[in-house]
Amino acid sequence: MPRQLFVTTALPYANGNFHIGHIMEYIQADIWVRFQRMQGHAVNFVGADDTHGAPIMIAAEKAGITPQQFVANIAAGRKPYLDGFHIAFDNWHSTDAPENHALAQQIYRDLKANGLISSKVIEQFFDPEKNMFLPDRFIKGECPKCHAKDQYGDNCEVCGSVYAPTDLINPYSALSGATPELKSSEHLFFQLSDPRCVEFLEGWTQDGRLQPEVANKVKEWFTVRTNADGTTSEGLGDWDISRDAPYFGIEIPDAPGKYFYVWLDAPVGYLASLKNLLDKRGEDFEAYMAQPALEQYHFIGKDIVTFHTLFWPAMLKFSGRKTPDSIFVHGFLTVNNGEKMSKSRGTGLDPLKYLGLGMNPEWLRYYIAAKLSARNEDIDFNADDFMARVNSDLIGKYVNIASRAAGFLAKRFAGKLSALSASSAELISAISSQKESVSSLYEQREYAKALRETMLLTDRVNAYVDANKPWELAKKEGMDAELQDVCSTCIEAFRLLTIYLKPVLPALAAQVEAFLNVTPMGFAEADTLLGAGHTIGNYQHLMQRVDVKQLDALFEAPAQAESTVAATETIVPGGAEIAPVITIDDFAKIDLRIAKIVNCEAVEGSTKLLRLTLDVGEGSTRNVFSGIAAHYQPDQLIGKLTVMVANLAPRKMKFGLSEGMVLAASHADAKAQPGIYVLEPFPGAQPGMRIG
Ligand code: 2FM
Ligand code: ZN
Repeated sequence: MPRQLFVTTALPYANGNFHIGHIMEYIQADIWVRFQRMQGHAVNFVGADDTHGAPIMIAAEKAGITPQQFVANIAAGRKPYLDGFHIAFDNWHSTDAPENHALAQQIYRDLKANGLISSKVIEQFFDPEKNMFLPDRFIKGECPKCHAKDQYGDNCEVCGSVYAPTDLINPYSALSGATPELKSSEHLFFQLSDPRCVEFLEGWTQDGRLQPEVANKVKEWFTVRTNADGTTSEGLGDWDISRDAPYFGIEIPDAPGKYFYVWLDAPVGYLASLKNLLDKRGEDFEAYMAQPALEQYHFIGKDIVTFHTLFWPAMLKFSGRKTPDSIFVHGFLTVNNGEKMSKSRGTGLDPLKYLGLGMNPEWLRYYIAAKLSARNEDIDFNADDFMARVNSDLIGKYVNIASRAAGFLAKRFAGKLSALSASSAELISAISSQKESVSSLYEQREYAKALRETMLLTDRVNAYVDANKPWELAKKEGMDAELQDVCSTCIEAFRLLTIYLKPVLPALAAQVEAFLNVTPMGFAEADTLLGAGHTIGNYQHLMQRVDVKQLDALFEAPAQAESTVAATETIVPGGAEIAPVITIDDFAKIDLRIAKIVNCEAVEGSTKLLRLTLDVGEGSTRNVFSGIAAHYQPDQLIGKLTVMVANLAPRKMKFGLSEGMVLAASHADAKAQPGIYVLEPFPGAQPGMRIG
């Protein structure tokens, strides 16, 4: 019977591009999903952007766009990463989608009906200028222990102590600089301390479904918990699930002005993405979830275990829903023994740069798989190790088997395989008999072990080739049958090894299937052989070696001085953060043209504006007002070429209609760096030419 599997990765915050830590998690999950499909099981594998919360709301405000637009821009940048690393989600959705609003509200209503929601008035810091309650990370001040300045509201980065924001000396809002005021407000709580929840979670987390090291860690939380101020209390505490407006989130039913805390609706996004997928296919979500045999798994990092092993299963259980069968926790990825990839700044190995350098995504998949176990352990990406494993193991041991045999078969036997001699058949059955062992290692997410077993098999095949020396057989008279036997054996072996590697190397396996003239292979195909008489196709080179120059380029620091990059947390070019990613289609909407400034004059009644008359090659001129009067004399500009936005909606101003905008550079902090610099193209550009 095929299993029904529902699999997710953690939903990434929609506040930045993917970093290598995300990609590692997606590769881990994708390998498992592909393996399950190769076993004939049915999998729905979904992801989504985690869109809500104060940090995203604030980032959008800074960028001058709505939070919806902000997260849409981030979402538009996801595809190149996912496609690039062959991560085959069935659906990518958003926690701000209608399905998630409806599901989160319904789950809340169900928890409330079950008597598990309570309310309590709490005191929190409030920013009187921004008119909002401040999340801990937006409150700064002096550490109460070591007196270091500018420390965050929850812990001190200098002495490491943990405290409540109210303990900070001279606290200030990181948003406005204002001194925050303590203000009380009613918050809603999910009563995890309710004996029903405690009893359920003690059972659910300790019944063997979780990794042992994860279950042990979770166990501690039932007896002791750490409070915001660093003190400890007994047992599970109730969970504060509401935030006051303004907040980018989902409205709480019957609680005007209150929104779900982002972590309440984030995991609901797993279900929302699945529902969206099933709706698109015309399948019934409720019926799918109600299947008794449905299995549900979430791949996550070790930093978000509490949410997934306590809050999420309790939310599901007490709203009358299916709970996850397990949570698969992985460690962090470090790069070249460096620091951990932090969520906010994934330093070290930029996944898009990797792809942009033409590096093969399957090298990375193979390398990561070769390091991953089922345990919640950190792994390190080491450049030398990466090159050795790809070049020596993957290519030297595995790919070479095919390249050594295919040429002789094509030239001497028209690509036809022969029956195998007894000793050759023995080697092949030794390989196929490892099927159960390799597949059970994949099932347990012991990828490193699965690959090690597979590589040991490649060693046996290579030893067989070295012992039988097809290149010598090819030179001898009357040894055709032996040569065909050895080469056929290599191809049969190569096919079996390809099945074992296919969850990790899907694109390479597809190339191999084409070369072998076979339909897509699952693990069941390891029980059969191509057999005598099967004709293979032409061998084409399957994989390049890693070039050390690529690795050098990958880890080369960006143009700025290296020391600055390492020492500074946030480099803000030109005084403003780079805006969220847009697609080429977004960019194409802006029609930039070369314009000739045919006239320029001061505007009477304005100290700021100059009136420009521009020729963009349309046969008539345009009138544009530009706020550059403090920086340029009209005759400095007359006769010059510049760049204008030619399709900007005309704007009626006090002094007349402005029909476009001229591009100029400036620093975001105009007080500190007041210059404005009108753009001018290199010589040769003509009015009307499009820029892009
Ligand atoms: O830690 C994070 O990156 C969160 N955005 C993960 C959310 S997982 C799920 F709950 F949505
Ligand atoms: Zn301190």
